[in-house]
Amino acid sequence: MKNRSVFVTGAGGELGSALLSHLVKAGAKVVALDVNEKYVCPLAGVRTVHGDLCNQNLLQSLFDEHKFDMVFHFAALLSSAAEKNPFLSQKVNVDGTGFLLELAYNAGKERKSPTRFLFPSSIAVYGSADKARLRSPLTEDECLQPETLYGIQKLFTEQVGAYLTRRCSGEYLDFRSLRYPGLISIDTLPTGGTSDYAAEMIHHANDGKAYGCFVSSNSKLPFMTMPDAIAALTSLAEADADKLTRSVYNVRGFSVSAAELREEVLKHFPKAQISFEPVEWRDNVVASWPDDIDDSLAQKDWGWSACHSLETAFTDYFLPGLRKAA
Ligand SMILES: NC(=O)c1ccc[n+]([C@@H]2O[C@H](COP(=O)([O-])OP(=O)(O)OC[C@H]3O[C@@H](n4cnc5c(N)ncnc54)[C@H](O)[C@@H]3O)[C@@H](O)[C@H]2O)c1
Repeated sequence: MKNRSVFVTGAGGELGSALLSHLVKAGAKVVALDVNEKYVCPLAGVRTVHGDLCNQNLLQSLFDEHKFDMVFHFAALLSSAAEKNPFLSQKVNVDGTGFLLELAYNAGKERKSPTRFLFPSSIAVYGSADKARLRSPLTEDECLQPETLYGIQKLFTEQVGAYLTRRCSGEYLDFRSLRYPGLISIDTLPTGGTSDYAAEMIHHANDGKAYGCFVSSNSKLPFMTMPDAIAALTSLAEADADKLTRSVYNVRGFSVSAAELREEVLKHFPKAQISFEPVEWRDNVVASWPDDIDDSLAQKDWGWSACHSLETAFTDYFLPGLRKAA
């Protein structure tokens, strides 16, 4: 990472803000883009740029000036936001992403060494008419019939990124993607996602506020803590290309139903008031996703292993972090 010229899009979001300090510590030169005018990266040495991923002139001028050789592309409308704003999500998640891939490809071609492109995909790429197939852990190539627009957009980007890398035999573009489960951070609250209920349940319990969970108690999804998500992304970003047998890898921490998560929250916050008030369309989105995913290929190829189980996520990450912030 040292001396790499790195472009981070969506830098003010949950993943972006968690990654930036790692990049700075590792010695990267970072430009942080976000459309949110209120966002300013607090880290010394990071250039904050306010702007829209869809502003092609802005992106071109940033590439011309900084000659990026690594991109972490986080700017997106997340699953629930994309369902509510289908056409805007197409512009950002597909058109904006497509132009960024083009710039990364052309920069690598000009430099004669590949631009490394890290893309956070999602379990939303999965789907199947046979819902029973989604109830056991899925490998990377099973059940890829997403029902949400967000899932379709993520799968499309995974495939375009992999295609462009193959097209140039990895000489200009080195596209690498993680299929994340729901992410839980204690530093930030999620917005716009469908797995947000997990983080919301924990934060409401900690704040002493009642919480009505927007999915049914038996809804089950895989999750991962934010430190594990950052560790997975940076490990993949730094992995030797010859170790990778594919461009897209599953990663997961633990799989849990909303009822089981509630039980775990109650162990640590016995007074928490958590009820289930499912919203049909959001419940349906979760039902179209798998209960769990299989990340054995990431373990085998680049030594991935999550630190946090459900229990240790609470004892070693959520509770100490929430106490520190209080
Ligand atoms: N959080 C999760 O559980 C999760 C799971 C799987 C995949 N992902 C993916 O990881 C990425 C980051 O997720 P996050 O949780 O940090 O999301 P987030 O919503 O917290 O952050 C996204 C950031 O992108 C910015 N943004 C949105 N549209 C933009 C545009 N047109 N131009 C510039 N910036 C724009 C937003 O202002 C926001 O700061 C996304 O691609 C998301 O799909 C997240």
